[in-house]
Amino acid sequence: MSLKIALLPGDGIGPEVTEEAVRILKNVAEHSGRAFSFSSHVIGGAAIDGEGTGLPERTLEAALNADAVLLGAVGHPKFDGRLPSERPEAALLALRQALGGFANLRPAIYYAPLAKRTPFQPERVRGANLLIVRELLGGLYFGEPRGFEASGNTAFNTLIYSRHEIERVARVAFDRARERRKKVASIDKANVLETSRLWRAVVSDVAKAYPDVELEHVYVDTAAMRLATAPASFDVMLCDNLFGDILSDQAASISGSLGVLPSATIGGKVDLYEPVHGSAPDIAGKGLANPIGAIASAAMLLRFSANMDKEAADIDHAIEEALASGARTKDLAGPGDRVLSTRDMGQAIEEALHDVRDRKHSYHGV
Ligand code: IPM
Ligand code: MN
Repeated sequence: MSLKIALLPGDGIGPEVTEEAVRILKNVAEHSGRAFSFSSHVIGGAAIDGEGTGLPERTLEAALNADAVLLGAVGHPKFDGRLPSERPEAALLALRQALGGFANLRPAIYYAPLAKRTPFQPERVRGANLLIVRELLGGLYFGEPRGFEASGNTAFNTLIYSRHEIERVARVAFDRARERRKKVASIDKANVLETSRLWRAVVSDVAKAYPDVELEHVYVDTAAMRLATAPASFDVMLCDNLFGDILSDQAASISGSLGVLPSATIGGKVDLYEPVHGSAPDIAGKGLANPIGAIASAAMLLRFSANMDKEAADIDHAIEEALASGARTKDLAGPGDRVLSTRDMGQAIEEALHDVRDRKHSYHGV
């Protein structure tokens, strides 16, 4: 049976980067004998323009009926004047809620070939390879009540977490840590917030079932500083929704560009894969976008939704090789570097993928 992948390219650079991710998935299908079927649907600003709503019923239905959803990006500055609930971003939040995935995995790694792009001295960032596990369905993003008071001069949001919400995402963090360096840093603001006190207590309880994993509690402000000074000291960072949003963009500085960060959202009815970057309207349609975040998200899709670990690892290696051979989109280029288009970067990674496979093949032969 073929794996049904719903594509939601969305706004801005979303369609361009999604196309390159699909190129890689098609290549994998060809070489693995696994069949993938793709269907494409509108979401975000493009859907508001065409259908009057950011998340049309048909899009939601297709997503719920798929085996996995691959999203590009949503958002456009022309909606900047609107209330949060009427912006393209609201469609993404509604989709996340409907799919039910509560654990958002955001790996950030240091790519040696990009050393010049990071703000770090190489010795500070060498070996940095961390995973942010971000709670995605609770906290300030969804807490009620929220809104403006009638005067328009006061506004409020609610930060609320239940034991259940914290427990389930904490388990994901500890499970992932077991596959990695067995360290969890739980991020909170327990010196100020009640929700953080609960967060700390629940995470400590969950940790009891994982005696092989080392747990530390870190205040979010301290974590931000440590990410900027000693990023390699982190393995898994367990964060609430807002802290995870902020720290994952900060973690992008490890690789030097937000364009290379992927994400997977797991634990719900259908898992959702999306690059961490936004719709970048300023460069949309120009072939300047970096497709690596989308391609690495497709690799996560293979790992978590298709049980294709080997193929996923091959894609990760192909990305590293393409970078090592000097392939650079504009966000990664320094003086003197030749700048590849979005499509050419996709092609460079596809070629590298062939090399990765060939090499494995010849190793097996000797
Ligand atoms: C992200 C984005 C979204 C978020 C926006 C677009 C709603 O910033 O995925 O990090 O805040 O979750
Ligand atoms: Mn974000």
